[in-house]
Amino acid sequence: MKIAIIPGDGVGKEIIAQGKKVLKAAAHKYKFDFEYEEVLLGGSAIDEKGTPLPEETIKICKSSDAVLLGAVGGPKWDKLPGNLRPEAGLLGIRKALGVFANLRPAILFPELKSASNLKPEVLGEGLDIMIVRELTGGAYFGEKDRINVEGGQKAWDTISYSTFEIDRIARRSFEIARKRNKKLTLIDKANVLESSKLWREVVAEIAKEYDDVELNYMYVDNAAMQLIKNPGQFDVILTENMFGDILSDEASMLTGSLGMLPSASVREDSFGLYEPIHGSAPDIAGQNKANPIGTLMSISMMFKYSFNMDEISHNIENSISKVLKEGYRTLDIATEGSKIVGTEEMGELIIKNM
Ligand code: IPM
Ligand code: MG
Repeated sequence: MKIAIIPGDGVGKEIIAQGKKVLKAAAHKYKFDFEYEEVLLGGSAIDEKGTPLPEETIKICKSSDAVLLGAVGGPKWDKLPGNLRPEAGLLGIRKALGVFANLRPAILFPELKSASNLKPEVLGEGLDIMIVRELTGGAYFGEKDRINVEGGQKAWDTISYSTFEIDRIARRSFEIARKRNKKLTLIDKANVLESSKLWREVVAEIAKEYDDVELNYMYVDNAAMQLIKNPGQFDVILTENMFGDILSDEASMLTGSLGMLPSASVREDSFGLYEPIHGSAPDIAGQNKANPIGTLMSISMMFKYSFNMDEISHNIENSISKVLKEGYRTLDIATEGSKIVGTEEMGELIIKNM
């Protein structure tokens, strides 16, 4: 298997270093070969190549079986115009690879209940929500512009979706729900937005082919509240790009920390782009403080979704569980009495348990 690795910016390099060690440990234990190639994206690509998304990066990612990404962005590049910012590289690579379905599981490890901002009685027996976020459409990629008008300027971004774009991600979501608790909630703003109305129509049509899955609709404002009020009601959430961006950050807080959560961006074949959902955290970069678990969980998703090697995926997740049970915590998930460790120690502990 061939993996393209994008360390990126900020804490990206530190968390990816742990990721590479876990890949090597897995290869050794399960006796498979893999090769990897490191490529540039985001701020580091701007510094070295003058563009956030070099052609070579696209080429190498496309010819790989999977891509592992750390994080991109940072204050150093914040003043650049939109199309030259690190984020443009991230959106560009998602689009270039056609990974339209972003799977963001929000799972609460029982050991981390006390790190969640919610009361234990709200969390109940634990949480396991799968957010399916559309990743290559909507306001992120719709027509946008800015013009001069009397008294200043006018700017706009357009949310546009086609039947085709909604259809393919809806099918994927029903399939996922079918293998879980068979409950799918479509989150939108159909009381206001035309694009949301189309989402409802298309999803309702596909639902007829999945009558074993219970489909619900919820407005995004209510969903933001329900996630805090009663998160246990959700199984699979399906939503458009920007709502998914916002709700997945919210969901991460239920589970203790943004640093814990992985994501898989997939398409119809087995190819995938795997990245933690957190950003480059420039405030703690280079200090051995970042939580590598989101990255290692992303690697676990890679084995599951791209390589069909569920056993390795379980091995990684069980090792993480064990280390948390033993009381080890990075700063973001530390509570009273935890054994606080750095990025590297956390990585080593997890590998030891594999
Ligand atoms: C994410 C991030 C990105 C997004 C940013 C960095 C462009 O917040 O992956 O959720 O909005 O998609
Ligand atoms: Mg986000």
